[in-house]
Amino acid sequence: MLNIVIFGPPGAGKGTQSKLIIDRYNLTHLSTGDILRAEMANKTPLGIEAKNLIEKGELVPDDIVIGMVRNKIDSEAGSEGFIFDGFPRTIEQAEALDDILGERNTPISAMISLEVEEQELIDRLLKRAELEGRKDDNIEVIQNRIKVYNEVTSSVAGYYAKTGRHRSVDGTGTIEEIFGRISSIIDEVKKSS
Ligand code: AP5
Ligand code: MG
Repeated sequence: MLNIVIFGPPGAGKGTQSKLIIDRYNLTHLSTGDILRAEMANKTPLGIEAKNLIEKGELVPDDIVIGMVRNKIDSEAGSEGFIFDGFPRTIEQAEALDDILGERNTPISAMISLEVEEQELIDRLLKRAELEGRKDDNIEVIQNRIKVYNEVTSSVAGYYAKTGRHRSVDGTGTIEEIFGRISSIIDEVKKSS
């Protein structure tokens, strides 16, 4: 199995690159943001609970997202591996993910961190707001999402760096150029595992 975390601030291109990665490497896309938006659309109890937080750009509690991830991993037992997109976002989530995967003997091989400057993130998300109308893509909420990323989530990169699994990628340029950079890392990781 090949398990990779794709990491970066809101608008860094995690979702965009995940789609390309799962096609090339035959992996399963596990996006906690996508799962939460589906729960919201279906008005499930979880979706109703999460809606308020998501629409403010705050994090959903760790126990909720960790449970969601555990269920998804179990329901895709035949998968060749996962791309974790938008998870982990806290040290607690990162530790839980290592535990869940440790029990299954299939660790995270690498975290690929997309580096993009703040103004570019804001420009991308405001543009997406016009195209897709995601509720959390408005300037106030975007700014709070970036703040939460800087104050809480960015430290997760250090967690992976400590165990030699953190890889930084320039997240600017065309989607294809960025995918080229990511693919070289994944090819390298595959060879050495
Ligand atoms: P989530 O859905 O994960 O959102 P996010 O992290 O804010 O990131 P985005 O999905 O906005 O950006 P992305 O990096 O995927 O970029 P994309 O490829 O779309 O989380 C949403 C919320 O759910 C959180 O705020 C939180 O409340 C909750 N949540 C989720 N996970 C959680 C967790 N683990 N714990 C707690 N709470 C959690 O690209 C963005 C735009 O840019 C697109 O329009 C795209 O077309 C464009 N674009 C992409 N690449 C390029 C490029 N190279 N050049 C120009 N434009 C580009
Ligand atoms: Mg996304």
